[in-house]
Amino acid sequence: MADDERLVTGESQDENEASIEQSLRPSTLSQYIGQRALKQELTVYIQAAKQREEALDHVLLYGPPGLGKTTLAMIIASEMQVGLKTTSGPAIEKTGDLVALLNELNPGDVLFIDEIHRLPKVVEEMLYSAMEDFYVDIVVGQGPTAHPIHFPLPPFTLIGATTRAGLLSAPLRDRFGIVGHMAYYDVDELEQIVDRSARILQSAIDTEGAHEIARRSRGTPRIANRLLKRIRDFAQVSPEHDAIDKAIVQHALTMLRVDDEGLDQTDVKLLETMIRFYNGGPVGLSTLAANIGEETDTVAEMYEPFLLQKGFIKRTARGRMVTPLAYEHLGLTPMNNGKDPH
Ligand SMILES: Nc1ncnc2c1ncn2[C@@H]1O[C@H](COP(=O)(O)OP(=O)(O)O)[C@@H](O)[C@H]1O
Ligand SMILES: [Mg+2]
Repeated sequence: MADDERLVTGESQDENEASIEQSLRPSTLSQYIGQRALKQELTVYIQAAKQREEALDHVLLYGPPGLGKTTLAMIIASEMQVGLKTTSGPAIEKTGDLVALLNELNPGDVLFIDEIHRLPKVVEEMLYSAMEDFYVDIVVGQGPTAHPIHFPLPPFTLIGATTRAGLLSAPLRDRFGIVGHMAYYDVDELEQIVDRSARILQSAIDTEGAHEIARRSRGTPRIANRLLKRIRDFAQVSPEHDAIDKAIVQHALTMLRVDDEGLDQTDVKLLETMIRFYNGGPVGLSTLAANIGEETDTVAEMYEPFLLQKGFIKRTARGRMVTPLAYEHLGLTPMNNGKDPH
């Protein structure tokens, strides 16, 4: 599927969309809705680190895309009142790239590495001493004149974000003192996020409209915001609507092919493929991904977690299986071997 048609995506590539996404980002912990337990923990750690005038311990944030990892990293730096450097795993190709980044940090600063599971191995290994004892050993010179230099670093906080905690090596994972698992948001929380975003975008929305968007946003703030932006276009051009209400949300989501449970076309295609071609499973994730023309990683990071948490699929030792709930949702019956009765 073309990236611009997707609802379920990573950070926006589109410039206009990216700037709106930026404007909707909460900038303080108190504006950050949901993730209550993690927020409470962080409040304590931040306050304690500030009182001791120390760098905050390293933080690992993991969870599906769009749940607020990048946002939270920015908030942590701003609450700590320190500088923030942002990069991503694939962007750090060589150990030299990492040294250059670390060299620019002031004491207490945050280095945010997005997609930290995609760091090259040599870079990851260099991080171990940097995180633990704030130094790196670099080799200068070549051949017989090559010699290691012990390069001390200021105390800093590494914040790593990943959609795949399982792909992180144990030595790296163990060096994070604070580990935050980002959970899908509940409907109430998403409703608050939609309300807040609508206010920022100066779009009128009623309670039922906000509730309907929240309910169909796959538990994901980024999707809630994307849907809101598209729906406000529908509301704006529709002669009989001014505020966003439930009717216009329903109409727009039909056009956007988001179903009643918030499943998009790819979610549905995935479930239907499992049912029609594999009799409901079990089927391996990579086979399934190939069948629907998606990368295995995309299915593993963006689609599977939501379908699992919805109870539409389950994991077994032999692969993924569709649950009776999914058959019911799609209006199919497992009785007829998954074949569409129509
Ligand atoms: N807890 C939250 N409260 C309000 N808005 C949020 C929250 N988490 C995320 N968002 C919104 O969702 C968007 C995506 O969040 P982001 O931090 O980029 O997700 P991730 O890095 O996990 O993919 C942000 O632009 C922000 O507007
Ligand atoms: Mg992010």
